[in-house]
Amino acid sequence: MPKLPSYHLFPTAETASKTLAAEIGELVSSRAAAGQSAVLGLATGSTPIPLYEELVCLHRNGLSFANVTTFNLDEYLGLERKHEESYWHFMHTHLFDHINIPPGNIHIPDGTVADENLQGHCLDFENAIVRAGGIDLQVLGIGRNGHIGFNEPGASPEVRTHVTSLNEVTIADAAESFDGPQNVPARAITMGVGTILDARRVVLLAFGGSKAGIIKRALTPGITSEVPATYLQLHDNVSFFVDADAGAAIEPSSLPE
Ligand code: PGA
Repeated sequence: MPKLPSYHLFPTAETASKTLAAEIGELVSSRAAAGQSAVLGLATGSTPIPLYEELVCLHRNGLSFANVTTFNLDEYLGLERKHEESYWHFMHTHLFDHINIPPGNIHIPDGTVADENLQGHCLDFENAIVRAGGIDLQVLGIGRNGHIGFNEPGASPEVRTHVTSLNEVTIADAAESFDGPQNVPARAITMGVGTILDARRVVLLAFGGSKAGIIKRALTPGITSEVPATYLQLHDNVSFFVDADAGAAIEPSSLPE
């Protein structure tokens, strides 16, 4: 039975990010106390930056990431790791360079893999998730077009990690960082919707007025490939953490208790 994600409205992006960081900190430390690892699925983009700041803060206050394994949602194809817009660069700048995660526990799709090896690379990525025991908590952002990871409008729900072409809205939104749409990579590697739905818990973050319309659609009953975030209605443990601007179009009375 489809089920709407649970909706949590916060006054600011910072308060939402602190709440999620605290949940992640609790997961990581309770697993460590039991001698177990915690497996996190991570996202890039402007949205999770305050979350990563909070996690770095928790680390400075004593939280160890020695037992953490991570899998990133996606990576642009054709960018070297050291490219400033690569997600490898993003994750190291905002998080990994500042915490004690063992480098071997970090998994980010490799945007430099040659075309003939891409299928194998995607399969290896999926297998690594399985070997790690599956993702405990997947962090997501959302595109204005409803994409999750680079699962663009038209994506199907059962697909696993794969190569995809960027949608025009995604390219337009990335154009400024790349100094023009012509410089935005045309393709990316992304976890599939099926990979994301296998995570035991999913928390989607959305901040700012540009996300208000798509948040309203994603929280309206009705699953459609045109809005891949609606596939989250197929999962029974999804929370949306939204700031006041991104939640501006939601009427609380339209949501389930
Ligand atoms: P943003 O991107 O965090 O930069 O808004 C989110 C996304 O496209 O998933």
